[in-house]
Amino acid sequence: VVVSAGGTREPLDPVRFLGNRSSGKQGYALARTAAARGARVTLLAANAALPDPAGVDVVPVGTAVELREAVLRAAADADAVVMAAAVADFRPATYAGGKIKKQDGQEPAPIALVRNPDILAEVSGSRARSGQVVVGFAAETDDVLANGRTKLKRKGCDLLVVNEVGERKTFGAEENEAVILGADGSETSVAHGPKEALAETVWDLVAERLGRTDPSLH
Ligand code: CTP
Repeated sequence: VVVSAGGTREPLDPVRFLGNRSSGKQGYALARTAAARGARVTLLAANAALPDPAGVDVVPVGTAVELREAVLRAAADADAVVMAAAVADFRPATYAGGKIKKQDGQEPAPIALVRNPDILAEVSGSRARSGQVVVGFAAETDDVLANGRTKLKRKGCDLLVVNEVGERKTFGAEENEAVILGADGSETSVAHGPKEALAETVWDLVAERLGRTDPSLH
């Protein structure tokens, strides 16, 4: 199985980037629990300051474009792909090879952005193996379930883990709560608890969809 974790960083110059608050803890919990269940795990780690989980193949990545390449490579022979990473939707249109300096008395130039590839939509739309299960994550602040359903359809994944975000919720926390929406209409609530508990429920639902009777993920 392939798990992406952490948050991408989109460089502006050699010392600055556009990033996000993802700690990587949920993705690392997914990798650890999958390995404990006997799966062969590739963890694509985007800027997470966490120790490598034992028995997991860890591939460090920086930007969304690097993550896309790593995901597509690893997904080629994977039974499941779980996109827990917070991927920047946009990156700076240009990269300044030297540090951007402030100019006396001048307002800064606006930062132009361009779209990054949508990795989850791409992996969902062109499955590397038949029966491959693809899982996305969504962080929503309002109309959590309705927005989640719309996003699940738009991305084309099999499962979407929907987190409600707000102050002290989700980012950097040790605990999490979520609703996992299935493309088959299913809805699984996971009560507030350790990120490992949410991870176990994700793998239960993935294993169900892989349709195995005695798989390594059970
Ligand atoms: N994702 C991705 N590639 C991107 C952006 C997001 O693969 N360029 C994946 C994330 O890893 C996550 C899911 O898509 O699994 C949800 O991303 P989100 O940013 O919430 O979705 P958006 O389509 O950007 O929707 P929004 O309008 O809420 O930003």
